[in-house]
Amino acid sequence: MNENHPYFKEAQKRAGLVVGGKWTLNRVLDVGGMAAVYEATHRNGNRVAMKVLHNIYAKSEQVRQRFLREGYLANKVGHPGAVSIQDDDVLEDGTPFLVMELLEGESLESRLRSNGPLPPAEVLFIADSVLGVLASAHDQNLIHRDIKPANIVLTQDGIAKLADLGMARQTNDMRLARRERGRMIGTPYYMAPEQVQGREDIDEQADLYSLGATFYHMVTGQPPFPGDELEPVLEGHLYGELTPPDHINQQLTGGLGEVVEWLLAKKRKDRYRSAADLLIDLECLLEGKAPRLARSKIEANTLQGLAEGEAIDDGDELEPPTTAVSQTWLLILATLLGISVLVNLVLLLR
Ligand SMILES: Nc1ncnc2c1ncn2[C@@H]1O[C@H](COP(=O)(O)OP(=O)(O)O)[C@@H](O)[C@H]1O
Ligand SMILES: [Mg+2]
Repeated sequence: MNENHPYFKEAQKRAGLVVGGKWTLNRVLDVGGMAAVYEATHRNGNRVAMKVLHNIYAKSEQVRQRFLREGYLANKVGHPGAVSIQDDDVLEDGTPFLVMELLEGESLESRLRSNGPLPPAEVLFIADSVLGVLASAHDQNLIHRDIKPANIVLTQDGIAKLADLGMARQTNDMRLARRERGRMIGTPYYMAPEQVQGREDIDEQADLYSLGATFYHMVTGQPPFPGDELEPVLEGHLYGELTPPDHINQQLTGGLGEVVEWLLAKKRKDRYRSAADLLIDLECLLEGKAPRLARSKIEANTLQGLAEGEAIDDGDELEPPTTAVSQTWLLILATLLGISVLVNLVLLLR
């Protein structure tokens, strides 16, 4: 757990509280950008995890509704690799909370903070687990939009689970897409270029990019465009040249590096076409073979005379971020790089 999180102290004040007359919040497990997660005990003895919206957001009806939507979306994915949400309710002061299955372990973020880069076998296992959930969500036209180490929980039983559908959206929900146009939604270190641009037509490819950024962090010990200031990080996603992961971790096998680089392509059309395609290459790597699709793509590119430039082309042309994103927001976010940015932005723009 990150005790330096800006909302950690506030979250701790609720420890010990009895909520809904039947759950005791025992201790803070971790804190995210939107909510604190507690280990809680029901009066019947069942232990659960409870996600309570941060105070500063609880007054916004828009945010409260979005928060509660997470339970519906998580159940819609209906994959055992997605954290399951059992119930929701409100505290006496009206703050909403979700009751979830309790995962005992730690987030991938915390593992990376204490361990540094992970061994390839563990990286592949985690990527494969998350990808299974993503493939299932994408099949139902649902995109997660906030894949990152903090949203992956590694349990003591050796399972990797995908948490936090707080930013998820149905790709056919055009009303929401229009409302969010021009807003940067995701977490800066792991955001796809099209998310940085606040494009309306965000799709499954954004999740693949963020999984690539998470992958990169697992194999190198740092996100693809690290740094303490927001603007260079975002510009890195848009235009920056990626340091190949095997230049940072020389023990990395070529195949794994190729897969990660392909996921982090600037243009959507240059990434894996789908979670299912990526799964093919991951299975190859798990069997100790070269990634079939990545290899054939590299060969095809070589024949064509290699990269045609890094610029984002027709399908992904660059739109300037909105004023709200580029001005006030950049300042406020400068210290919150690892934190999901939707909710803060919603409040700022109201
Ligand atoms: N069901 C759970 N059991 C245990 N820990 C969890 C669970 N869900 C989330 N966490 C931890 O709590 C943190 C915050 O939860 P998350 O759902 O990501 O909140 P936010 O929407 O604020 O980012 C996660 O990074 C993870 O470490
Ligand atoms: Mg989170």
